[in-house]
Amino acid sequence: MADIFTRNAWFDRLFATDGLYWMGQNTNHLPAHPAVIEALNTSIAAAEFNAYAPPLGFESLRQAIVADIGVAGVEAMVTDGGVNALSTLCRARCRPGTTFVTTDPSWKWPCQFAEQMGAQVIQIPIWNAECQYRLTPEALAANVDDNTALIYLVDPNNPLGISYSRDELAAFIKIAKRHDALLVHDCTYRDFAPEHVAALGLDSQHVVMSVSFSKWLGLAGLRIGALIAAPELLAELAPWNAGVLGASVPAQRAAEAGLAVKEQWMHALREQDNRNKALIADAVNAIPGLFIPVYPSGGNFLVIDVSAADVCPEALVACYLEQGIQIRHGGYHTATFGDRFIKVSTTVPQAWAEKFAQLLPQMVAQARDRRTSPQPF
Ligand SMILES: Cc1ncc(COP(=O)(O)O)c(C=O)c1O
Repeated sequence: MADIFTRNAWFDRLFATDGLYWMGQNTNHLPAHPAVIEALNTSIAAAEFNAYAPPLGFESLRQAIVADIGVAGVEAMVTDGGVNALSTLCRARCRPGTTFVTTDPSWKWPCQFAEQMGAQVIQIPIWNAECQYRLTPEALAANVDDNTALIYLVDPNNPLGISYSRDELAAFIKIAKRHDALLVHDCTYRDFAPEHVAALGLDSQHVVMSVSFSKWLGLAGLRIGALIAAPELLAELAPWNAGVLGASVPAQRAAEAGLAVKEQWMHALREQDNRNKALIADAVNAIPGLFIPVYPSGGNFLVIDVSAADVCPEALVACYLEQGIQIRHGGYHTATFGDRFIKVSTTVPQAWAEKFAQLLPQMVAQARDRRTSPQPF
């Protein structure tokens, strides 16, 4: 990966690109709910940002987050994005001599946090039709031992979009218990998976949960998420959060407003998301050599396997960017499987999905002629 200054300049340029179609980061670009805009405006007009929020977040928001996941007897800590819930966990539990076990592909940043704390990162390959692109209890058991500090399960998985059943989660918890490890259930995309199960509802001694307001509510730039755990566990973990002065006040107001209208909002959002997925899937299925390993994805994105199409994912990303569409190549997620796929976000205006789909044959043809197009992210 390119150095931080190059990456920064790259994203700065993307931000400055007029009319860019953001389809690479699973963000949500549908118009925000009016109640969310109103909450933000009210908070800003009252200059609430002059003060620090309570360290764990506003009590009303903490309660609304717990009510939303539907698990009794747990507490929420509001964080600067779900990413800081995950960094808190790595800071609290990862040490030299411990292991951090996750899948490959997984979300890369917690792996980096664990490594920075001296833990060994173990990634279990799941990009494989034989295991149906999912982690199995057998594979997990073979990689977890008494040195395992954290089992990091992204569910639905980013980028694959697979989601786990109650039985699978129960089997994972059993393994965590056997070795006194903590199962970190990253539920950033849970709102897009119809039958999602909160592992925290099955066990609150060996499970913690992270959630985000970036994707379902479209608040990525406001930076707000949460860590949810049993009270004693949360009390132990909270001091490891670098955000000891509380999360953004306007972001918390927006998040609470979003939770109040969530049912109605998610209904409309899922409808658009499903339509966009179908549009993209039709275009993919019409091109020999391309396929979608997991359909429908349980996240607000789709991965498209291009490995049989003689196309380099980075070249495809470069071609789309020239058309004003940002998508992601697999190398962002995984060194092992990164040359196989691209990923496309689907919580976007329908016109964006249509343009992506309509350009696909032409982009694939163009990308075939380009072997190297390194992307600095
Ligand atoms: C799997 C996963 N976890 C956590 C996050 C963090 O989300 P945020 O910090 O924006 O809440 C992301 C964002 O892309 C993600 O994909």
